[in-house]
Amino acid sequence: MNLLQNIKPTLLMGPGPSSVSPRVYEALKTPTIGHLDPRFIDVMDGIKSMLKTLFLTENEFCTAVSGTGSAAMESCFVNLINPGDKVLIVQNGYFSMRMENMCSRLGANIDVLKFDWGFPADPKIVGEKINENNYDIVAVVHAETSTGVRNPIEEISKFISNDTLYIVDAVTSFGTIELNVDKWNIDAVYSCSQKGLSCPPGASPVSFSNKAIQKMKSRKKQIPNWYLDMTELIKYWDGEKRAYHHTAPINMMYALYQGLSDVTTEGIESTITRHQEVHLYLVDGLKKLGLEFLVEKKYRLPSLNSVLIPKGVDDAKIRTSLLNEYQIEIGAGLGPFAGKIWRIGLMGYSAHKDNVDRLLSALSEVL
Ligand SMILES: Cc1ncc(COP(=O)(O)O)c(C=O)c1O
Repeated sequence: MNLLQNIKPTLLMGPGPSSVSPRVYEALKTPTIGHLDPRFIDVMDGIKSMLKTLFLTENEFCTAVSGTGSAAMESCFVNLINPGDKVLIVQNGYFSMRMENMCSRLGANIDVLKFDWGFPADPKIVGEKINENNYDIVAVVHAETSTGVRNPIEEISKFISNDTLYIVDAVTSFGTIELNVDKWNIDAVYSCSQKGLSCPPGASPVSFSNKAIQKMKSRKKQIPNWYLDMTELIKYWDGEKRAYHHTAPINMMYALYQGLSDVTTEGIESTITRHQEVHLYLVDGLKKLGLEFLVEKKYRLPSLNSVLIPKGVDDAKIRTSLLNEYQIEIGAGLGPFAGKIWRIGLMGYSAHKDNVDRLLSALSEVL
């Protein structure tokens, strides 16, 4: 028996992946061609140009890493950290802990500035820390998927000096909330395909400023990772003549191309407005069911809704019934919030009112 026959369409309303749009499924069926075929190079160029527009940047260096968001995250640190570099990681959730793990493997001299999970970083405190130290890199997660908190990227950017590189995780924010790479002086930004872009996981946008590129180019030692070395990858992604680096996941790049085209067609501002409107619709519906939110209203992400599990309710049982009886996936809590919250994602193709109606109706039956 072919195990794939067991897999039925599921409405993905967890922390990611989000549901794949029918247009992206169609794009995935486009015939596979060679990774140096001029028609594929055109698709790569289309991805670069749409990324530039949607990231709101003049950065020439916009590309997609063959891999998931973590590979894109690693590509930023591995290319930009020299051993001994002073790095500040602002930490208030699971994904900034992953940043710390990656940076420690690269011999960085790390300061971790912790804030409570479920609360945003305080830009004043971050600013004081930056002013007291001469950091080479400051890294912050924009949309913390483990808690549903939006961090104040723009406010923190005001404390970043010319000698510092600002790295921002936009895995859950890109295509769901405002992200303005140039205005916020971001030097390296990375995202993923499987959330706001409604694609399967596997091809992840990144962009680097000229300041970041200068640092990569002036490194004395080789970048300590072959696959993610941007100074090599760029020879495949840019220039008149392209050179083989690795065999790109061709059909995943088609998917990414389509996902980006769809956001471009809808318009980035309308896409963001849709996420906010659908979020408010969900908040209203959950309130009627007597459910409460973990995060204070002004810091909430529309794309990741952390809902407190009512006393006496069996977390796993509810999620299992939603999945098995209603074909709806929602996420469990992580770390200190395991068993305490559900994480309801409204990202990309999943962020539509009819999906919210389906979830609310199922919840009202299982609770
Ligand atoms: C904020 C954030 N950063 C990084 C990642 C890692 O991305 P991936 O799981 O695609 O490797 C995730 C995944 O959900 C995330 O939410």
